[in-house]
Amino acid sequence: MRKQVILLPGDGVGREIMEGAKAVLNTIAGEYNHEFIVHEHAIGGDAIDRYDTPLPEQTVKACENADAILLGAVGGPKWDGMPAGKRPEKGLLGIRKSLGLFANLRPVQGFGPLVHASPLKTELVDGCDILIVRELTGGLYFGKPSGRSADGEEVVDTLRYTRKEIERIVEKGFEAAQMRSGKLTSVDKANVLESSRMWREVVEEKAKDYPDVTVEHQLVDSAAMKLITNPKQFDVIVTENLFGDILSDEASVLTGSLGMLPSASLRTDGVGLYEPVHGSAPDIAGEGVVNPLGMILSTAMMLKYSFGMEEEAAEIERAVKECLEDGYHTRDLDVQGGKVVGTDEMIKRIVENLSTKSISNAICSSYM
Ligand code: IPM
Ligand code: MG
Repeated sequence: MRKQVILLPGDGVGREIMEGAKAVLNTIAGEYNHEFIVHEHAIGGDAIDRYDTPLPEQTVKACENADAILLGAVGGPKWDGMPAGKRPEKGLLGIRKSLGLFANLRPVQGFGPLVHASPLKTELVDGCDILIVRELTGGLYFGKPSGRSADGEEVVDTLRYTRKEIERIVEKGFEAAQMRSGKLTSVDKANVLESSRMWREVVEEKAKDYPDVTVEHQLVDSAAMKLITNPKQFDVIVTENLFGDILSDEASVLTGSLGMLPSASLRTDGVGLYEPVHGSAPDIAGEGVVNPLGMILSTAMMLKYSFGMEEEAAEIERAVKECLEDGYHTRDLDVQGGKVVGTDEMIKRIVENLSTKSISNAICSSYM
């Protein structure tokens, strides 16, 4: 297969982790005879520095013509004082919105060697496997009006959704639940917000089309509490933009491995943007210690969701798991008895691990 991939390294550790994505793509291309045509573009603070805008027109154009996009991270203290329209985050929000990437999938899955590092008791988190389906292009992030009054004494943000916008994300939630254990938890604040009451209505209507999925509704405050007290009760969670933002950060610490978590932002035609859940980590940027696995697992998600390369994606996941089981990890992870390595070394190990398979395949095939 031949695919066009845009790389948006962005800020902070973005560039270092993107090396991991490139190395893995190169290896997979070689092993499976694919061609990935990659081009790099600016976004976030990096784009502000070079082009005076967090989302240059040429970046948007390149992404519009791509099959998929890999993003490192945006933001950092350097741009903190910038006016609202010129913050690095605007670049990320802008690209999500202009490409119509309304469905954000954030899987939270424990890796055996890391479970003991969770701040929660092992028995609570062992075997935890949650998928958060977050609406990404509506709600408070984009509703108008928003801003500050002329005298600076009043502010407004608007939580707005159309029925259609709710329907399409709720469908994604049901589809995901169907492919997993058949359980969907819809999270809202229907005791207070009108938008949540419509959300609940839509979920009830759609439930009729998915008789094999069991649905429950939870209020967001209570869901936040249960994520800590009994996370294993959740399988797929579907929720609006801001609730999903908050719950996904909360869920990301359950498995003791924030640096490992990937995400996908999708629309209906398979085009997607893939990025690790961790941010730009300016405090460790440039030190060669950042964990590249969140980016590498995001690359695996891209292969699976945008390109239908299930086997290739599974290979990457296997390589990551085996590296951890062999005890290699970056310093953010706590693997008992393991060996701390830097970013480059970690990437090298994953690549070697991916290639080992092809060598053994080559040997096998020569005997067939
Ligand atoms: C995320 C981030 C972004 C968001 C920020 C950087 C704009 O927190 O992807 O979760 O709020 O969506
Ligand atoms: Mg967030």
